[in-house]
Amino acid sequence: MNLNKVFENNKKWISGKLSEKEDYFEELGKGQSPELLYIGCSDSRVTAEDLMGMGPGEVFVHRNIANMVISIDLNAMSVVNYAVEHLKVNHVVVCGHYACGGVKAAMQSADLGILNPWLRNIRDVYRLHKNELNAIENEDKKYDRLVELNVQEQCVNLIKTAAIQKAYRDRNLKVHGWVFDVHTGKLIDLEIDFEGILKNIMEIYHLD
Ligand code: CO
Repeated sequence: MNLNKVFENNKKWISGKLSEKEDYFEELGKGQSPELLYIGCSDSRVTAEDLMGMGPGEVFVHRNIANMVISIDLNAMSVVNYAVEHLKVNHVVVCGHYACGGVKAAMQSADLGILNPWLRNIRDVYRLHKNELNAIENEDKKYDRLVELNVQEQCVNLIKTAAIQKAYRDRNLKVHGWVFDVHTGKLIDLEIDFEGILKNIMEIYHLD
């Protein structure tokens, strides 16, 4: 791969933006006020802004292997805190995707070194939903369902944070669980029943 291409593309991108709007970069330089925090997988096929048709300035993005929200991950927790408390986003999305390599790896018995502790969080999701998952005989369907349940549990992990709880109470911030289907390009809202989940868990996780 010739990386010169990247800089050529960049020049074309700049002239494209300028032809749409003369002061595009002046405006962009003034600051950001995204209304959405997107937490997705690092997978190169799942391009956050592109698949949502959003441009620069419109979405605050965090990506890691298998779109995880882990309470001791200083990186993810800083992103959530900054987006919610300073940028004041009103929507937080966890977007998983079918055919996720991270989720697949967590379904297999293999020592993957430094990836083990990261992927163990997905194994924990499996354990929480073991009965439902083990009842699915088709391996592909089981894999798809684990992708969905992992999104759900990462949304629950968001709700366990003080920043989200505060914003939920003060300005009705919404958490959303989505899945991107890499086979069709379709973005699917899992319509997770947060009210139902919250009723069950808030007595344990309530902070603020
Ligand atoms: Co992935």
